[in-house]
Amino acid sequence: MLTEYHCHILPGIDDGSDSVETSLKMVQRMYDQGVRRIVATSHFYCHREESVAAFLEKREAAFRALMEAGPAVKDIRLGAEIAIEHGVSETPGLQKLAIEGTDLILLEFPYRKFEEWMEEEIDNVIAKYDFTVIVAHVHRYLDYYTEDQMDNLVNLNAILQINNEAFENKKEKKLVKQLIAGGYPLIFGSDAHNLKTRKPNWDLVKKKADPRVVERSDRVLDRHRIV
Ligand SMILES: [Fe+2]
Repeated sequence: MLTEYHCHILPGIDDGSDSVETSLKMVQRMYDQGVRRIVATSHFYCHREESVAAFLEKREAAFRALMEAGPAVKDIRLGAEIAIEHGVSETPGLQKLAIEGTDLILLEFPYRKFEEWMEEEIDNVIAKYDFTVIVAHVHRYLDYYTEDQMDNLVNLNAILQINNEAFENKKEKKLVKQLIAGGYPLIFGSDAHNLKTRKPNWDLVKKKADPRVVERSDRVLDRHRIV
């Protein structure tokens, strides 16, 4: 079942979908491209949010509004894209931001030079909650990190999330190919925010990715279910 692991389809909660109408269209576009399961990963910045509880309340309201409008894909799971910031691992209630029903947590590195504390925050998150970390759009750090730092990043013992658009960029595609050849655990997502500039783009994956690699991605959600 084609699974979208990273997108901003919930209406009015972050810089993604601006309305229920846009959300419905985004989900419809995904459905038309073959997606049957979606993890909604709204941005979470610990320094901006009042609390995890307040964020969850907002997210629940946005989710309810979308579901009441009857989206084309019914299987929508809630998660978050958590920005790695100083002290993020100490955020009270952080465990509630894991993808619902799983031990998976999606973390986004800052878009700048790598610094040691970023990895320390990840280590703390793992040590404290025993989560499986997903590194969001791992290829987007190619412009910021040295080769050694990239090497370190992909070997963090995390699941590596790839944005579908990586297949369109020569340098990023090369990295994805290396990761596939190296047997790294990869999952895919559109990171769609809207219908124009950052839109659902699963047609790219269908065209350019080995179906077996996509199937492996799809299975990750089931393999990490917690009972
Ligand atoms: Fe995102």
